[in-house]
Amino acid sequence: SWTMANVVDEQVAAIREQIGDRRAICGLSGGVDSAVAAALVQRAIGDRLTCVYVDHGLMRQGETEQIERDFVAVTGADLRVVDASDQFLSALAGVSDPEQKRKIIGREFIRVFEQAALDVIADAKEHGETVDFLVQGTLYPDVVESGGGTGTANIKSHHNVGGLPEDLTFTLVEPLRTLFKDEVREVGRRLGLPDTLVQRQPFPGPGLGIRIVGEVTRERLDVLRQADAIAREELSAAHLDTEIWQCPVVLLADVRSVGVQGDGRTYGHPIVLRPVSSEDAMTADWTRLPYDVLAKISTRITNEVAEVNRVVLDVTSKPPGTIEWE
Ligand code: XMP
Repeated sequence: SWTMANVVDEQVAAIREQIGDRRAICGLSGGVDSAVAAALVQRAIGDRLTCVYVDHGLMRQGETEQIERDFVAVTGADLRVVDASDQFLSALAGVSDPEQKRKIIGREFIRVFEQAALDVIADAKEHGETVDFLVQGTLYPDVVESGGGTGTANIKSHHNVGGLPEDLTFTLVEPLRTLFKDEVREVGRRLGLPDTLVQRQPFPGPGLGIRIVGEVTRERLDVLRQADAIAREELSAAHLDTEIWQCPVVLLADVRSVGVQGDGRTYGHPIVLRPVSSEDAMTADWTRLPYDVLAKISTRITNEVAEVNRVVLDVTSKPPGTIEWE
């Protein structure tokens, strides 16, 4: 629409005005909001924006490549990918408690991002430049919820071994502050971002780490990633991916059940499908997916993912269930 075309032009102008000839940094999460915010800023200031993507190893199949390859191809953004999966997995070793996992993932994320930001600042400094701005994909509902404030962000340095703790202070750039989610998707489309990114369903920051009930390991992540990819593939083949709010796929890694395959007994793990319908994720109902789609997903997962011998459907509304299992 005309309005969205105006939004792009107006935001690009506003960003140029705010940042001038200085530099900015943006953390990409793999989600729609940070990608669209970064694409707008890239259009406004080009290579004076550096994007940082922390690969925590907890993303779904193809998502990291989508940012590394497709996002960069479309926007031409200067992207630094930090592969921190080893660091996240060691920090998560032996941990099963959901809140603990969330805390650890959040803490490691800040550490890695902060180090990346320090590196970007050090590189800029070599050219006599400073990095003063942090781009964030804050949407209108977030602005309302947080009381409308804006201004600066402070990243406190925790692991600055041998030196004084250094506070990194940035002025925030929030080009999506006046927009709702569907408007952000429209802006993203206008900026040429692929549908797979623009139509992406909500996905939690801690990623697959909170979709494995039990300890998170590389092997378990691989199992869950395969099952999740099959579910997503079949949901989009049935054109249901844009109908439902989201469909977490959960691996019950601490549960085993007996099965039979070929002429052998199996003792594998269950996968839970959690398709939900919702307006805002505050409440949700379980989606009555067509039986034939469920059957296809179940058959494929149990055939194609060796460690899984059972697929179950979560038929709980929210409340009392949450959308995620952890
Ligand atoms: P629950 O499980 O609380 O989830 O019903 C509500 C919505 O929030 C998403 N979710 C998260 N998103 N970081 C996020 O960015 C998180 O830690 C997180 N936990 C849950 C969830 O996918 C659902 O859309």
